[in-house]
Amino acid sequence: MEHAVSFEVTISGIKEGAVDSFILYNEGLIQSGLSAEAYAEGPLGWFDPNTSMQSLQAIQSLAARVQARFDLLIVIGIGGSNRGAVAAVGALSPTGTELFFAGDTLSATQLAKAIRLVQERNAALCVIAKDFNTIEPGITFRMLRKELERKYGSSSHERIIAIGSGGEGQLHHLAQRHQWEFLAFPADINGRYSVLSTVGLFPMAVAGVDIESLIAGGIAEHQRLTTLKPLMNPAVRYAAIRNLLSKQGSIIEALVIFEPALEGFARWWVQLFGESEGKKEGALFPTYFSYSEDLHAIGQYVQEGPRIIVETFLNYTYKSSPLVIEPSCEIQDRFDYLDDRPFDTLNEVVYQAALNAHASDQRPVIELSSSQSISAYSLGQSFYFFLFSVYLSSLLLGVNPFTQDGVEGYKKNMYHQLGKGKVWPD
Ligand code: PA5
Repeated sequence: MEHAVSFEVTISGIKEGAVDSFILYNEGLIQSGLSAEAYAEGPLGWFDPNTSMQSLQAIQSLAARVQARFDLLIVIGIGGSNRGAVAAVGALSPTGTELFFAGDTLSATQLAKAIRLVQERNAALCVIAKDFNTIEPGITFRMLRKELERKYGSSSHERIIAIGSGGEGQLHHLAQRHQWEFLAFPADINGRYSVLSTVGLFPMAVAGVDIESLIAGGIAEHQRLTTLKPLMNPAVRYAAIRNLLSKQGSIIEALVIFEPALEGFARWWVQLFGESEGKKEGALFPTYFSYSEDLHAIGQYVQEGPRIIVETFLNYTYKSSPLVIEPSCEIQDRFDYLDDRPFDTLNEVVYQAALNAHASDQRPVIELSSSQSISAYSLGQSFYFFLFSVYLSSLLLGVNPFTQDGVEGYKKNMYHQLGKGKVWPD
């Protein structure tokens, strides 16, 4: 099961030895991250994924019941409450029960699609919300619940699973009162750090992901990253390089993928880094590029535009494919120089071609490489690698990774506009 997210940097603009010096200069801070002493008030429940093993059985047994009874699970959540599951299901294409993700938009068209699914399929709902005050998942859940009630009457409660804060949490009370299944959203984990907890694991398990392997990958990566010395530690180096590049004028970091199935993973990464670090000047703006497609959209800007972009190339082997390029004898399409090559070669070549073209023009390029094809285990490692890296990177930047007060701005405006707290009509 050995798979390492090794770390290699092809970089211009950072002088030889600068990364080592930066790490040594910040060693005290880095050590406080490696030992989880920094921001010890947390929530730091994600730090040691061994704790997820405690809920494994409960998750697996409820997931098995859902798989046996329903052919579709509509997962209602937003931000950290759904992106982990979206990432894993996209990357692994599991063959369990189908998932549909809802509650992350106020588009009526999307809602209508979800309503039709409830009407036409044998569906259950899984609502996930730590606080259950966000309008998007809250109102989507209500609309879909009503549809379930119309179709199944008094037995509709059997088709609802809520994942929310235990104890005094609103969803917990509602679940108790209306006999919904309930799983606790760990109190010491917030949304974007929840991928290896019940929040990410339950929908993944229903979809057929081997969550035991996924957690095992997270645990292995936790052990590795918390014991490696800072100078040799890939998460420390990645965090240090991001901070150095930002100090040298980079503004944007793009995670570069070459496999559309990893788009959910890239979007999970964007949310994790954006909400953890986006609190002061100097925080890199996270985005992602999906190559080859984006080479024909944003590639021009990266190659010749302002030098504000860092590209972090995800050098992951997806699945190796048996496809070989067939010669075309009758139709002279002028691609015969590609005849008989394994199709996978092309993606490997375009990877190197893009990386070299950008790096050789002194554009900063980071490479994160994995030696093994994507599996539940290696994905668990990758999730943990980035959770740990963003925690360290936030320390170096000087922001608390666990707050997200800025998100409340738009919410407050909506509450005001929609009259939350007033009796309607007033
Ligand atoms: O990462 C986070 O904590 C946030 O993105 C939350 O997940 C998001 O705001 C949704 O919160 P909730 O599920 O409590 O509505």
